[in-house]
This record gives sequence, C-alpha cells and structure tokens, in this order.
Amino acid sequence: MIREAVAIAHPNVALSKYWGKRDVPGNVPAVPSLSVTLGGLRTRTRVRWSDDPREPDRLMLNGRALDRTDGGRIYAFLDFLRRKLDVRGAADVETDNDFPTASGLASSASGFAALTLAAMHAAGAGTSWPRVADLARQGSVSAARSVLGGFVELDVAGAARPFAAADRLPLVVLVCVTAEGPKSIGSTDGMRITMDRSPYGRAWLETAPRIHAALCDGLVAGDFARVGELAEASAMAMHASAIAAGVTYWNGVTVEALAAVRALRTGGTPAYATIDAGPHVKVLAQPQDAARVRGVMEAIPGVRRIIEAHPGEGARVEGAT
Ligand code: PMV
Repeated sequence: MIREAVAIAHPNVALSKYWGKRDVPGNVPAVPSLSVTLGGLRTRTRVRWSDDPREPDRLMLNGRALDRTDGGRIYAFLDFLRRKLDVRGAADVETDNDFPTASGLASSASGFAALTLAAMHAAGAGTSWPRVADLARQGSVSAARSVLGGFVELDVAGAARPFAAADRLPLVVLVCVTAEGPKSIGSTDGMRITMDRSPYGRAWLETAPRIHAALCDGLVAGDFARVGELAEASAMAMHASAIAAGVTYWNGVTVEALAAVRALRTGGTPAYATIDAGPHVKVLAQPQDAARVRGVMEAIPGVRRIIEAHPGEGARVEGAT
C-alpha cells in the first residue's frame, strides 16, 4: 500500500466571488462562484501515514513546526480525512508555499487541495476529482476549485466542475502585494460576521448569483471586458457587504491600487481589479497589456511586489513511494 505522496496545487482567484455559507453541514457555499486556477504560484505538500495510531500527527508549514494551537484547523482536517479515508495511523505532513501564507492570497485553497490529494493518494484511496474536490471543500470552500485547472465553477450544492479550459480567455493576473503577514480576520469569521450583522448581507446573496450567471456568459463569449467588469463588480459588492459589518480587509494601498486600475481604464487600457479576504489587489489584464499595467501598479508607493500568474493546471500528484 502507498503510504507517502507529494501533491502540488495552485491557488485560484474567484472572478465571481463566494462569500457566505449555507446553513447545512459540509461547508457549502451560499452563492455560486467561478474562479481561475493560477499557474505561477504553488503549494507543495508531502503526506505520510504511519501504521501506528499512538504516534501524534506532525505538521510543518514553510519549514516551521505548527502545534495544535497554531495549526488547529489543519489538525482538525487531518482528523476528518482519517475518518473519511478509513486510516488509523498518524499523519506526517510537510507543506510549503512559494507565496505569502494566510494573507488573502488563497493559500488555504491550494493548501487544502494539495493536502487532500496527497493524503488520499498516500492512503491508497481513489483520487477521482469530484471526490478530491468534495473532501478539499471541507477544509476550505475555495480549495474545491483548486483541485481543477482552468476556469472552475462551484455551485451551491458544493460541487466543483471544470467550466472552461485555461486558454478560453487570454488573461494575466497581476497580484499586487500590499502588505506582509497574516490577515486580521479569517474568511470564515469574516463571512459569518457579514451575514450576521451587515445591512447588505441579503443584498449580496441576491446579487451574487446574477453577477455569476452574467460572468459565465461573458466567459463563454470570450469577452474579456465583460468578464473583467463583472469580476470587479463581484469583488466590490462582496467587500461592500463586509465593510458595512465592520469587516475591512483593505488598507490604504488597496484603495490607491483600485484608483490606478480605474485610471488605466480611463486611459483606454482594459484592466480590472479583484480583491479576496485580504488587502492585495489582483489586476486582470490581457497579455498584450500586462507589461504596461505592471509598470503602473509597481509605481504605486506601498505595492511591495507583483506576482504574475496565468490560468494554470489543477492539483496533481508529484511522486509516490
Ligand atoms: O475558501 P474560503 O472559505 O477561505 O473563502 C474564500 C473567500 C474568497 O476568497 C473571498 C472568495 C472566493 O470565492 O474565493
């Protein structure tokens, strides 16, 4: 039986966002979303299942040991995987990201996707993608989308499916990093507070599916400007609902970066912004404009660096022994 496996997964950025969970078991989103999996950033995770149930689980993240206090969510997920995969032994996990962890750069998406796939492969379990995505979603909803490559839809039943191939829309995503370090509030807490307290929580739940449907149509039509406009509208509506509940992920540089993207459009360059549960601005541009857009974003004081990503592949097993 295979006991050890290494898997690679990439983060994804949602063009139409999910924000809010349904009141059912299994970590199911309240609204549909559509993402693009990002090549150019990656998580690599090694999982080894021991035969000895008395050993403790062991977890290393970016070269640092994480105990149950700091890595509680991941340890809880390992307990969940043990039950689902019918494994008795302890897990030895090493995981590395080549981009900032827990800062709104979707490290939980690639992290839980890579962990799920490596754990399943190491356990000798079937790794058909619907099952990998279904289990990964219970670690982090967006992780279900990172299991697949290209453009991926996640519906309100929690099922991820490939929507379009990576080359459907020529696209560059410029991740403008505006801060280092972890974000102040995790996405699960952020969306719970939004739904409990925001005067615009219901408005978001009504608007998001409409934006999603129109964005899917724009993608099918290969219409970059339409997809970009709707992606920006989705992010603004999501953040507006959160900000109204006191959940603010933005910093001053986020606002400057948004203004720069709008100025680019006024000047005739189609560029659009999206923002996840963190302060970074992800600029969507066409490949022929990428260098110019990058130059403008780099010149903003407080933009620390720019990571360039393109539509990429889904999660895969790198090696197994
Ligand atoms: O994957 P989660 O449950 O941590 O939430 C991610 C939520 C957003 O990134 C803000 C939006 C999305 O659809 O990815």
